[in-house]
Amino acid sequence: MAYVGHTVTCLDNNQERVAGLREGRVPFYEPGLKELIVRSAGRLHFAGSERLAEAVREVDVLFVAVGTPQGGDGSADLSNVADVARAMGCALAGSPPREFPLVVVNKSTVPVGSAYYVSTLINDGIDDAGGEDAKFRVASNPEFLREGSAVHDSLFPDRVVVGTDSREALDALRTLYTPIVEQSFPTEWDPRPKVAVPFVTTDLASAEMIKYAANAFLATKISFINEVANLCELVGADVSEVAYGVGLDDRVGSRFLSAGLGWGGSCFPKDVAALRATARKYEYETPLLDAAAAVNERQRRRVIHKLQQDLHSLEGKRVALLGLSFKPNTDDLRGAPSLTIAGALNSLGARIVGYDPVAAKAAAKLVPDIQAVLDPYEALEGAHAAVVVTEWEEVRGLDPLKAASLMRDPKLIVDGRNALDAAALREAGLLYRGFGRGYDKG
Ligand code: UGA
Repeated sequence: MAYVGHTVTCLDNNQERVAGLREGRVPFYEPGLKELIVRSAGRLHFAGSERLAEAVREVDVLFVAVGTPQGGDGSADLSNVADVARAMGCALAGSPPREFPLVVVNKSTVPVGSAYYVSTLINDGIDDAGGEDAKFRVASNPEFLREGSAVHDSLFPDRVVVGTDSREALDALRTLYTPIVEQSFPTEWDPRPKVAVPFVTTDLASAEMIKYAANAFLATKISFINEVANLCELVGADVSEVAYGVGLDDRVGSRFLSAGLGWGGSCFPKDVAALRATARKYEYETPLLDAAAAVNERQRRRVIHKLQQDLHSLEGKRVALLGLSFKPNTDDLRGAPSLTIAGALNSLGARIVGYDPVAAKAAAKLVPDIQAVLDPYEALEGAHAAVVVTEWEEVRGLDPLKAASLMRDPKLIVDGRNALDAAALREAGLLYRGFGRGYDKG
């Protein structure tokens, strides 16, 4: 928002994070984000959340972008959203009357119906502080960016979705998003011809549902290709060829058809679980979503089965995990497949060494008994087997001969992302097992 020309203040209750950001330190790994912050200097400010009252007085639009982690029963935990909404209500109660209503935009992924809940909480906060009716409007503006390509996805989104029942909120958000929708901001990043971004306006519940349906569909698409991959192994087909042939059909599309050990991260698992929890609330069954989650869990177990097939007992075996973050170009370990796989390997008595270029240190704190290293070859040294968990460039580019010279028999590579060149690895003397690559049979 600051880069495209708006004046933005980011509030956070973590003072250390705020102080770091003021000095240009980005608290997580996200390619291009630091540069974007530098380029937005002068329009981008960071402050502690104690400045909320001031913000509520001064800003036109206030985005709520707090975490909604998975609660015990699978539903989204809205306590952070509730805290912020109440605090906003109190702040509004103490503010002088506004000429235009404050537009409160929900960016956090919240279950359908939460926008009304947020309104209620803001009003509760106003009442608690003894304030009169204050002017505010609520809108839902779901986020679709992917970690690892957040900067690109924010500046060049496939669509912007706004759900609201307020004309004022809609007008404010349309104005705010104009530089992005019209692609009128200066950029040296993307040489593509500028095409207007669809601006989708809808009601609150539909906007909230669009977010969940998008993530659930993508997760289901991956589970679908993983099920096909497992069948490919049985019948001798190659899922990469199949996905290519199927994906060329415009109605299917080629993206999110990479088979492997399944989806992870802080979004797909949580959002699929939350959608299933919403359905349960309405006593509605979701066999398709249940199956998408079950297939995903089975993919993780298949990694262990593939290891056992060639190593037999895993007791005392040295297994390298290549890549620990839930996907490349992020240091995020939330919902990372590496954690589940490491847990299973631990319980089977394997010795685990994990490589990741950015998440190794954090993983060492989360996984008991993992030896975390910053060099993939150090991880491979003396390993009986290696699992490709995250397809970092450094992993894709492994030198097969060097890997073979460092590993111990049977020199097994379980490629959980179908990211490596099977033929080159086999030629170097490694035992290669991919996912859904039928020629593995022999
Ligand atoms: C996902 C969505 O793609 C974003 O649109 C959304 O905004 C975000 O969740 C969110 O709700 O915040 P993200 O979790 O960052 O983004 O990562 P993805 O690129 O979607 O990957 C998710 C998982 O699926 C990863 O574990 C990845 O390895 C896996 N994946 C992805 C596959 O196994 N196969 C594929 O073909 C694609």
